[in-house]
Amino acid sequence: MSILCSDLAKVYEGGKTGWPALRGVSFEIKSGEFVAVTGPSGCGKSTLLNIIGLLDEPSGGRYEFNGRDIVSMSDQERSQARLEKIGFVFQAFHLLNRLSALENVCLPMLYAGMDSHEMKTRAASLLHKVGLKGKERKTPLELSGGERQRVAIARALANAPELILADEPTGNLDTVSSREIVDMLFALNAEGLTVVMVTHDKEIAARAGRNIKLRDGRLEP
Ligand SMILES: Nc1ncnc2c1ncn2[C@@H]1O[C@H](COP(=O)(O)OP(=O)(O)OP(=O)(O)O)[C@@H](O)[C@H]1O
Ligand SMILES: [Mg+2]
Repeated sequence: MSILCSDLAKVYEGGKTGWPALRGVSFEIKSGEFVAVTGPSGCGKSTLLNIIGLLDEPSGGRYEFNGRDIVSMSDQERSQARLEKIGFVFQAFHLLNRLSALENVCLPMLYAGMDSHEMKTRAASLLHKVGLKGKERKTPLELSGGERQRVAIARALANAPELILADEPTGNLDTVSSREIVDMLFALNAEGLTVVMVTHDKEIAARAGRNIKLRDGRLEP
């Protein structure tokens, strides 16, 4: 796993000149790192995470994911990399409320074409891993915030990714649940996963091996 950003820029369309969200950001992330992305609201953290996660494209500069310039990747190659190499965790969970916890975790494996039996066995074992044994059949609305985020982490792990991208994963959680979720992300990192996490929490950022500090679309020294 490797990430290389070089003079990355992002301008959202709108107004006469557009809205610059990133103004020339360069850094590298190596396999096994735990990186916290910090900075004030509107400084470009989510924009950066979306680009790293191949959910959005930069408007300038260069981004290499696993040594490949993303400009040279087809849409299909990008979707495949997203599905197989990257797990996403969001502040608002982004679970499907009509599906059970187990079915939510199955979804990425379904998209990847895994056999139904294998998929369910793996989903159950991932839910077990995140401490939700016995809650496989509950829907997100029958779970607490912390439990929903655990389901989201299990789903992020479904296709055995190399990289976890978490955008304020504790933003909707109380202190105790936040701590559990963050501990879980650190434990996954200890197992070898690369983790990039946006956070406003100074203590959490201090625990990360490295911080990327943004201000007004630029890196803070
Ligand atoms: N889809 C969009 N269209 C236009 N402007 C956008 C869009 N998304 C973000 N922006 C703008 O880009 C800038 C960076 O937004 P971004 O969401 O990356 O900030 P952030 O650091 O994640 O903030 P927060 O901490 O509040 O989540 C902001 O000025 C925002 O208004
Ligand atoms: Mg954001």
